[in-house]
Amino acid sequence: MSERAVKAIELVKWFGEGAAKTYAVKGISFEANFGEMLYIVGPSGSGKTTLLSMISGILRPNSGTVVIHGQEIWKLGNNAIADFRLNTIGFVFQDYHLFPKLTTLENVAIPLILKKQDWKKAMDTAMEFLEVVELKERASLPPLKLSGGEQQRVAIARAIVSRPDILILDEPTASLDGNTGKKILGFVKENVLNEHRCILIVTHDSRIFEYADRMIKMEDGKIVEVLSGGFDEE
Ligand SMILES: Nc1ncnc2c1ncn2[C@@H]1O[C@H](COP(=O)(O)OP(=O)(O)OP(=O)(O)O)[C@@H](O)[C@H]1O
Ligand SMILES: [Mg+2]
Repeated sequence: MSERAVKAIELVKWFGEGAAKTYAVKGISFEANFGEMLYIVGPSGSGKTTLLSMISGILRPNSGTVVIHGQEIWKLGNNAIADFRLNTIGFVFQDYHLFPKLTTLENVAIPLILKKQDWKKAMDTAMEFLEVVELKERASLPPLKLSGGEQQRVAIARAIVSRPDILILDEPTASLDGNTGKKILGFVKENVLNEHRCILIVTHDSRIFEYADRMIKMEDGKIVEVLSGGFDEE
């Protein structure tokens, strides 16, 4: 497939005005391929979450372009961007963003319900994915009754349940022990990644570096290095 999964061109994002204006992302360009698990690493505050938010249609850049499946996403209207997020992107937020009034199972089923899938079928599929993250027995609880690591696994299940073309994970293993983190990322690489999909992962966790196909290093809002292949635990 010649089309790139993701093209980011000269992305810039600042926050604040006047003396308080600070640049979070200072002109970032990169491409991610279908079939690829691309890691983005860098110190806290280097702009990683800001970059992912612009790529996934959550945060509008001040300048620059994001092209996904040949479409410049920030040229779309608000409804079309919402559809794009629903149909193309799966996102695991650094702070999970689970819905407290819904059960764990319903949280995982949300993308399917939004896509107007039959309720019972959506719940059955969500349960399969809860089983993948080993939380089937927690299905009927609200997420706030779960531990941080359990909530993180629910967020991962919700992001992969609708089999998105572009899966974006922001620190997906931060609350997980080493074995659980490796197991879930291993599952994602084996079963979610294929030649029509691309996975972007922001992480500090060297325990999961072995799954990376390429790695982009960020510092202070810029890319400082791009590395390919053969990553072992540091
Ligand atoms: N909504 C916002 N308003 C103001 N400043 C922001 C906002 N979001 C991010 N920033 C600033 O932009 C910079 C980059 O933040 P970002 O969250 O992208 O970093 P990060 O690399 O994801 O860090 P971490 O590893 O701690 O998650 C930081 O200096 C942060 O304070
Ligand atoms: Mg972050």
